[in-house]
Order: sequence, then structure tokens, then C-alpha cells
Amino acid sequence: MKKINLGFIAAGARNRVHARNLLRQFGDKVNFSAVCDINEKAILEFKEEFGLENIPVYTDYRELLKEQKDIDGLFIAPPNHLHEEIAVPALQHGIPILLEKPLAHTTESCMNIARAYDRSSSRVTMGLVLRYTPFYRTIFNILKDGKIGRIKVLNANEVVGPVLSSVFFRTWRGKEEYTGGLLLEKCCHDLDLINEMLGVNPHRVAAFASGNNFIPRQGCGPRCRECAVKKTCTFSTVLWEKNIECGEDNNEYEYVDFKNDMCVYNDKHNIMDRQSQLIEYEGGSLVYFNVTLGGTDTRRTVDITGTEGRIVGDFKENRIFLYRAFKENPEEMKIEHEKSGHGGGDSVLIRSFIDGIENPNYVPEASFKDGLKSALLAFICDQARDEGKILPVSFLEGIDSIRD
Ligand SMILES: NC(=O)c1ccc[n+]([C@@H]2O[C@H](COP(=O)([O-])OP(=O)(O)OC[C@H]3O[C@@H](n4cnc5c(N)ncnc54)[C@H](O)[C@@H]3O)[C@@H](O)[C@H]2O)c1
Repeated sequence: MKKINLGFIAAGARNRVHARNLLRQFGDKVNFSAVCDINEKAILEFKEEFGLENIPVYTDYRELLKEQKDIDGLFIAPPNHLHEEIAVPALQHGIPILLEKPLAHTTESCMNIARAYDRSSSRVTMGLVLRYTPFYRTIFNILKDGKIGRIKVLNANEVVGPVLSSVFFRTWRGKEEYTGGLLLEKCCHDLDLINEMLGVNPHRVAAFASGNNFIPRQGCGPRCRECAVKKTCTFSTVLWEKNIECGEDNNEYEYVDFKNDMCVYNDKHNIMDRQSQLIEYEGGSLVYFNVTLGGTDTRRTVDITGTEGRIVGDFKENRIFLYRAFKENPEEMKIEHEKSGHGGGDSVLIRSFIDGIENPNYVPEASFKDGLKSALLAFICDQARDEGKILPVSFLEGIDSIRD
């Protein structure tokens, strides 16, 4: 049987997670046929980890796209500001693509990719991995079954723990010009999930943010290993090395490079460390969503009040409670998931992508348009924050004509 040939553009943390999940589930079915990264070390580590001594390697994605005609599926996961540059020519090849979230770092880039997508025959699976988790699928099903009626108010909260937060201050993620902002980079997942839960379009938004915690501090830095407070600071990699276990299934740690111990306060970055948005959806449903970097642990929670009941969920604990009026005890749904990152979503996303390569009628659960809508919603929230205004969500008319 012919193997499925897969190419990787970027050999960083995310594509390595995909490669691990591919080998774990489809080791006898897939062939890693090319990898591209501008960083030779990243390529070397990729080759070593996956035993790919003879894999063709590229430092320019254009060469990979030109030479590798037999690729059946492509993984694109460079930093956000490069998504447009790489995705637009890749789409011309018409092959299935797993494009990491967010779609791109600006509205203009998103729309350029959207036009290229519309002209192409590629099926795009967005890396909106939380859609593939048993946790969020359970919430979608409760809502679809009408168990809590129409949503009146949805409160969602994302707190990012010290390890994952530090990635925002020690890598390209600390710069708005590379990420497109905290809300886009960290929470396009949440905005996408909220869009799906509501099932109607967002109508108006207001937002507030601050970045006044991770600012220069005297008496610490520039690197943990030589810092005066290395034994007490929450963000000290010296402390972490002793105290945390870096397990493959704990996605919080997959991004940690212990050698990168820049001071989270004193290193240069311009990203917000918290943001709150109020979003009014069509029909009057109200959403209040918060994100905070620098919390005690990484956790997403959701609390949805409907006309007939209430759902309270904690993604970290994998627990969902369904409340009804006059019933003393809520119904508890304890969710089991596979051992893979993002609450089991990483392995399901990969299965789904491979299914899509084998089945031409496949429709991705995290579609291109889902990626587009969640990114554009993040940009409007950021604009409302910057202008201090309540803004109408006006992008939706422009994207209706784009193919599914
Ligand atoms: N779905 C998710 O939950 C999830 C999780 C993590 C990251 N991501 C997304 O995946 C993408 C990558 O994140 P990451 O954590 O792997 O970052 P990373 O920094 O670990 O890896 C990025 C890699 O891209 C490489 N690169 C830079 N320019 C390149 C170019 N021109 N051509 C090829 N490679 C290039 C870098 O050298 C680096 O190896 C981002 O868009 C991020 O938002 C998604």
C-alpha cells in the first residue's frame, strides 16, 4: 500500500507535536517526505527525534513546494506573521493542509489567505485543536440537544500558568508584530469555541486590556541562571528544572527551552498580559471572556446560563456540570480523554487530518472559515480596546461568499 507522504514547513514545537502524534497513530502508514525550517538546529532536532537521516531538508519553503510534487498533506506551523507568506503559495498546490492557528497576524493577511483559499482546491484543516477535545464536544452536544435552552450569558476565562506564560516573554510570542496580539495568539481557540457554542454571529464588542505586570523590575534579570531571585521567582527556570516533570502529554511543557531563561520582566516585549471582552451576539446573548498571563496554573473555565439550565465546566479538571432549576444536585459529566496534549485534542486532530487525506468528501471539523472568523473577531476586539469604543462586528458580510 502506498504510504501517505507528508511535508512539514517549520520544525518547531508545534510541528513536532504533530509529528509525534502521526508516528504514534499512523507509524506504518505515513512517510515524512520533506521538512523545511530556516533554523538548522530545529531541522537537526526534528531529524534526530524522528529518525529521519535521509529526509530532504529545505531552508526555503518555496524550494520545498517546487520540488516535492508527491506530497499528499502539508503541515504549516511557522510563527504567525509568516502564515500568509507561506500559506498563499502552498494553497496553489491543491493538497490538504493543516494550517496552524491563528489564520494570520493581521486582517489584511487573513483576507489575502482567504482569497487564495477561495481560488484553490485545497482542503484546509485549521489547528483549532480544542474543537477536537471530548470536553468541548460534550458541551457542543449538550447545547445542540437543547438541554439548557437558548444561551443568555456565557462567561469564559483562560488563565495561563507560569510556564506557558513565560513563552510569551521569551520567544517571538512577546511581540505583537509577530503574533498579532495576545487575544489572537492565545485565544483564537476560545473565540472559535464561543462562536460555535453560540451558533449565531457576533454583533458588537467592547474590550479592555493591560500589560503592566511584565514590565522592567529592578533587582532581577537579565537571565534566570545569574539572577538574584532565581530561587524564589515564579518564572525562574532554575526553580522549574528541579520542580517540574516535562511529560510528553503535558502540552504546557512542550514549548519550554530551559536554555532560554531571559527575564520575563526585563526582556523586551510589547504584548498585553490580560484582556477582557464583552461580546454581544445576534439575538441578545452576552459573552464575557477574559485571558490572563502569569496565573498560578493553566486553566480554562466556562459558565453558560441558558433559558432552561446552566453548564459549568473546567477544562483542566475535565469536568462538566449540568444544572437545572429546582434540582439540588447538578448532573456531572466526567470526561475521559486520550493521552495527548490539549485535553486529548492533539491526537484526534491528527486522525481527522489523515482521514481527510484519504476521503475526498471529508469536511474538517475546524474549517477554514472557523479560523477566519475567530481571527477577525480577535482583531475587532483589539480595535475596540485600542479605540475605547463599542464596535460593530462588520466583517461577516465579506466572508460569506468564501467557499466552505
Ligand atoms: N493549535 C495549537 O494549540 C498551537 C499550539 C502551539 C503553537 N501553535 C501555532 O503554531 C505555530 C508555531 O508555533 P510553535 O510553538 O511551533 O513555535 P516555535 O517557535 O517552536 O517554532 C516555529 C518554527 O518556525 C521556524 N521558522 C521561522 N521562519 C520560518 C520560515 N520562513 N520557514 C520555515 N520555518 C520557519 C522557526 O525556526 C521555528 O523552528 C504558531 O502559529 C502558533 O500559534 C498552535
